[in-house]
Amino acid sequence: MRPIIPDYLAEALGDVESDRSGEPAGYIPELAAADPERLGVAFAMTDGEVYGAGDIDMEFTIQSISKPFVYALALSDRGFGPVLAKVGVEPSGEAFNEISLESDTGRPLNPMINAGAITVHSLAGAKDLNPTERVEHVLHGLSAFAGRRLRMDEAVCASEMEHAHRNLAIAHMLRSHDVLTQDPRAVVDGYTRQCSVLVTTRDLAMMAATLANRGTNPLSGKQVVPEPVVRQVLSVMFSCGMYDAAGDWATQVGIPAKSGVAGGLIGALPGQIGIATFSPRLDVHGNSVRGVSLFERFSSDMGLHVM
Ligand code: DON
Repeated sequence: MRPIIPDYLAEALGDVESDRSGEPAGYIPELAAADPERLGVAFAMTDGEVYGAGDIDMEFTIQSISKPFVYALALSDRGFGPVLAKVGVEPSGEAFNEISLESDTGRPLNPMINAGAITVHSLAGAKDLNPTERVEHVLHGLSAFAGRRLRMDEAVCASEMEHAHRNLAIAHMLRSHDVLTQDPRAVVDGYTRQCSVLVTTRDLAMMAATLANRGTNPLSGKQVVPEPVVRQVLSVMFSCGMYDAAGDWATQVGIPAKSGVAGGLIGALPGQIGIATFSPRLDVHGNSVRGVSLFERFSSDMGLHVM
């Protein structure tokens, strides 16, 4: 007998395939050159089984989907107190690259926006790591979430760094408030490297399944981060993961989620499943158009809304 899930997933892809609305991210030239027709979906169960359809083994850069995972690493490495002292947990209701700092302290509102994620990058690993060691620590951690050794796309990283003026400006603001204590350029370089890690849709589903599986990677059986950290991360993904579309997402889809400007999108349902989609055309919020449609359908078809 043929398994039901791959047929269901192929049908779901077929139904969104003709939607050509949105544009690939234009502000990173290497991403603007990506093939906009790519489309994939993967479901990773908490027992390690993966079901997929479409381009699930094609690599693309993780971009902002790295943010919840590096937040998890920083919380594990430094503890909740030091991280929460530097980065809040309130939705900004603004775009991912808005400055969004608390006016009195300069603390970024949450770890999913760039200001928060740049700060979180600086908090990953031990305090005394140099920038190269910190990037290696982040790469090692992201690989543990995926259950395989990941690598970086140097061309995408260089392409973004050439146009990183906004992130550099944010980092200098953070440094002026002493939220960042390291060299702002080195932190933005490390954060951009973090965003340039190559993943497949299958990897992203497994990373999401590691969160769904309360921090234990279903393939390796390794506890990557402790359970209280996962609870914190999924809560912040629920309220802030989709930026200024977070409210629509919470009501219509109702799954803790995170998007990336290369076209990836993940959702993690505690105790059940990690879902990932890939389609490079983005809406005005920087979220994948066909990815959002697919998640809306999965949530409605399978009753995945957490409420
Ligand atoms: O900081 C940036 O601009 C990117 N490297 C990551 C942004 C991103 O993926 C936003 N998410 N939709």
